[in-house]
Amino acid sequence: MEEVTYQGLTFVPYIRREEIAKQVHRLAQEIKRDYANEFPLFLCVLNGSFIFAADLFRACNLHDAEISFIRFKSYEGMESTGKVKEIMGLNEDIAGRNVLIVEDIIDSGVTAAQLRKELDKRNPKSVKMVSLLFKPDALTMGKAPEYVGFEIPSKFILGYGLDLDGLARNLPDIYVLKEK
Ligand code: IMP
Ligand code: MG
Repeated sequence: MEEVTYQGLTFVPYIRREEIAKQVHRLAQEIKRDYANEFPLFLCVLNGSFIFAADLFRACNLHDAEISFIRFKSYEGMESTGKVKEIMGLNEDIAGRNVLIVEDIIDSGVTAAQLRKELDKRNPKSVKMVSLLFKPDALTMGKAPEYVGFEIPSKFILGYGLDLDGLARNLPDIYVLKEK
């Protein structure tokens, strides 16, 4: 078994690079079809999405498409949910634009729901989301992404951009925490 270990935790292969590539190309076909004449602005949410976004953006092969890289910060206020939200790195005026948020994974959905809310304030023509991974059982806020690569159970995974405290993003395959 090609296990990997981070911070004393063992992870086993879960989704192979070939399977990831297959779903990235399937998503790209759907996005290319839906956005052919829409001049979309892809918004890659850093850090986790950068590898997926790079593969997806190329696979879509749209002549008229732009990509921007943002960070979504939620400052902790009095409550743990945080009250102050800020989109960092968004230099484009998104008014009237067709925005496609590119996420690595939707877990509780809190981050995605808050980001959609902040983007909506800037009067885009449309906002949709593509997420490589989606944990439907964990969703507590907002809705499912319009485009999903893989629906997975609520287990902790890493690799292909996803991290454990900043580590393991460079693994070409996705790994899951090994059951005891
Ligand atoms: P949410 O707001 O609960 O949907 O959290 C989304 C963020 O949590 C993602 O962008 C990831 O950074 C992180 N996350 C959620 N599940 C995992 C996982 O299984 N592995 C690594 N990071 C995860
Ligand atoms: Mg993320």
